Amino acid sequence: MTDPDFTAFLQAYPSYSSTYGLDDLRATEYGRLDASEQIYLDYTGGGLYAETQVRQHHELLSRHIFGNPHSANPTSLAATQLVEHTRAYILKFFNADPAEYDVIFTGNASGALKLVGESYPFAKGGQYLLTFDNHNSVNGIREFAHARGAKVTYIPVGLPDMRVDTATLDGYLATGEKGQHNLFAYPAKSNFSSVQHPLEWIERAHAAGWDVLLDAAAFAPTNRLDLGKVKPDFVPLSFYKIFGYPTGLGALVARRKALGKLQRPWFAGGTITVASVQGDKYYLAEGHAAFEDGTVDYLNIPAVEIGLKHIESNGIENIQERVRCLTGWLLDNLTVMKHSTGVPLVKVYGPTSTEARGGAVTVNFFDKDGKAIDHRAIEEAANKVNISLRTGCFCNPGAGELALGISRLELDVCFHGPGHEQRLTLDDFRNCIDGKSSGAVRISAGMITNFNDIQGLLLFANSLLS
Ligand SMILES: Cc1ncc(COP(=O)(O)O)c(C=O)c1O
Repeated sequence: MTDPDFTAFLQAYPSYSSTYGLDDLRATEYGRLDASEQIYLDYTGGGLYAETQVRQHHELLSRHIFGNPHSANPTSLAATQLVEHTRAYILKFFNADPAEYDVIFTGNASGALKLVGESYPFAKGGQYLLTFDNHNSVNGIREFAHARGAKVTYIPVGLPDMRVDTATLDGYLATGEKGQHNLFAYPAKSNFSSVQHPLEWIERAHAAGWDVLLDAAAFAPTNRLDLGKVKPDFVPLSFYKIFGYPTGLGALVARRKALGKLQRPWFAGGTITVASVQGDKYYLAEGHAAFEDGTVDYLNIPAVEIGLKHIESNGIENIQERVRCLTGWLLDNLTVMKHSTGVPLVKVYGPTSTEARGGAVTVNFFDKDGKAIDHRAIEEAANKVNISLRTGCFCNPGAGELALGISRLELDVCFHGPGHEQRLTLDDFRNCIDGKSSGAVRISAGMITNFNDIQGLLLFANSLLS
């Protein structure tokens, strides 16, 4: 017999049926999920890998001999060939013209962001402009800006949708001093609210004289980033978020023109053409080579091409549509749950429709008297029924502070309190913002999420009603 909820779901989201191929894929390639009865809903934290990705990678490793690519011997050349092939494949995946864009391998998106931060020519008169809802690894770039005397400006996102309107953005963009180095950073998709900010901002910012850092770490797993159509200068990525395996690899996809602006603070093995001890001189290599410190992860890099092909064979638009349908169903059902007192079970931080948003739904749960239930208690309860959620502030303090109503004044009091000059534990912080939530619960769907996963989550939410 057909499940009436599934029938209602299909009526509300008929395009879901066009993504059934992903159910077949889940059965053949991700069988471990259902076998272990896990409900995985932390795709913004990390994607899941197909068995075939691991198999193909291990076959490659077991059939060949690869040496350190910094030489010209046969095993080294074999590794170089695979690394360069993968580099080219990444550009192809993002439809980036190799004459315009380059790929620098890093450990993760944070590594890519640090490369930009430490090398961008911040100086007095210049500015680092960023939205409130950036990940901490984008926030951290402000320390390089501060150290070099550049101005740091945050653009608040508006409640309740956590978006920025174009007029507000234009106002901030107009503050960049002409002739100075100005960098504007924003997430293509916020890892807190899942808001997808317009990619059209890139050209608005360019026209106003800004370089643009588009954080695509949370966006790329379920959306097409077409670098033939939009032209951000710097794009940090983490590959495990897109296809789960391998971890420990990311990239900075960057415009060659923008790379030319960067000034590396040091040199390392692999980044120079010539370095001299007695002459106290070094010459940086061109393009990506100047930014890849030491030996790249040459045994794992080929697994990136395998992963990208896996995504391509399933279709990124297909994945996006599936996630949109499931997120819509989750939002539709979660937002109408009420206690017997009439108090809603959840408050959603971010948009409650599927318009221009991704597959993460960030909420806090409330009891029947309207008191917030600590996110740690929700996590504990979810753990008991094998549901993997993310709780806390997800390394996105700006969005968290706005969503949770924590003011600048309260933060100043906390940070300047006795004994808090150098150290502040999370518990100290919680005590300090007494009575307010210090975090939230993020439920995020991804490529392999199915209807049952969402129903499992809704059943769990239902069990919290009184
Ligand atoms: C939007 C965004 N940017 C950057 C990062 C940092 O990624 P990583 O921890 O892989 O360096 C994350 C990770 O959650 C993210 O969601």
